[in-house]
Amino acid sequence: MPYTVPKLTDFSTTALDSAVRELVSALEEESKAVRSEAEWKIFHDRWTARKNGIRTQIGELWLNAAPKEAKREVGRRVNSIIEQIETTVKDTDDRRKNLEILKKARAAGIDAQIDQARRALELSERLDVTLPGIRRPIGAEHPVIKTMNEMIGVFRNLGYSVEEGPEIETDFYNFEALNFPPNHPARDTQDTLFIAGQESKPLRDRLLLRTHTSPVQIRTMQKMKPPVRVVCPGKVHRNDALDATHSPIFHQIEGLAVDTNITFCDLKGTLDHAMKAMFGSSVKTRFYPSFFPFTEPSADVQISCIFCDGKGVRDGAPCRNCKASGWIELLGCGMVDPNVYGFVDYDASKVSGFAFGMGVERIAILKYGVDDIQLFFQGDVRFLEQFG
Ligand code: PHE
Repeated sequence: MPYTVPKLTDFSTTALDSAVRELVSALEEESKAVRSEAEWKIFHDRWTARKNGIRTQIGELWLNAAPKEAKREVGRRVNSIIEQIETTVKDTDDRRKNLEILKKARAAGIDAQIDQARRALELSERLDVTLPGIRRPIGAEHPVIKTMNEMIGVFRNLGYSVEEGPEIETDFYNFEALNFPPNHPARDTQDTLFIAGQESKPLRDRLLLRTHTSPVQIRTMQKMKPPVRVVCPGKVHRNDALDATHSPIFHQIEGLAVDTNITFCDLKGTLDHAMKAMFGSSVKTRFYPSFFPFTEPSADVQISCIFCDGKGVRDGAPCRNCKASGWIELLGCGMVDPNVYGFVDYDASKVSGFAFGMGVERIAILKYGVDDIQLFFQGDVRFLEQFG
């Protein structure tokens, strides 16, 4: 039963003493029970509300009711009780505030502990040395790009810079400026893929997929004056059915050197050096007469077979890689045809130069002993990761 202020009839010291004791013990009991701000508010109002708080009630029920002779004594006690009520209410507020801070701190402490435990758990999971490791494969350069970069490196060391050009070319750059006249049969050898709907344009502006990197020669000479030494790597397209040695998309590296007094000897020396740098110093080169509209004279370069050391025989059997000839054909080259200089405003009577072009996949096939060009384009990781 909650405490209620009794109406006093007996104002003797003993009666007052017991009434005060009862009130004070109720005050202390109720104070102790306060745990929150809401509880404190109820407690505060019950004891100190102006209208019907216990403090007001004792003024009315005890002091006002006291007979004249007891008034002084009752007044003294009532005053001290009021003082005690006020300090208790205030202390209770302080205590419950601390209690709440403590509660929060304890909760935070538990949170921190839970956090720590969870982190420790995660860590122990992560550091479980008995689990099999997670394999993170390291990316590898594609063998075609790798070969291309190696070849570029060889020419960089000779002072060549790198130029690139568009894969969608005009007839002018892919053919005309390279001395392929319209309707010339040499165009047929290129198995060109044409962009549709170009018929309304003049022939030289019609778009096609470049069939070789030689158009970059023209673009380079249009923007640079001699001396020129460039290599032009890139993707080319031909309307070829795919088999083990053909792909409609492949890569070439073009080379061009134009200066005064450049001779066929420079061409031979340069390519011989490049082949030795690429395939080993024991490799020999052979220049075989050939034809390209934009070079004159032209040659195909063959290297001594790297599989049978140029013997044509391997393990007592005819070498399959060179068809027992001891030679492998690798690239086309020649001295830049003077007609070409006419398309780029070079003075053919003052400058001379050479050009060469090689298929990157073909070189990679030889270098890495790959037996099918399609492997380069299928994206099979088991194949590609061998080049890491
Ligand atoms: N562009 C020629 C081809 O793709 C190769 C070549 C380049 C030949 C430069 C001579 C000089 O067949």
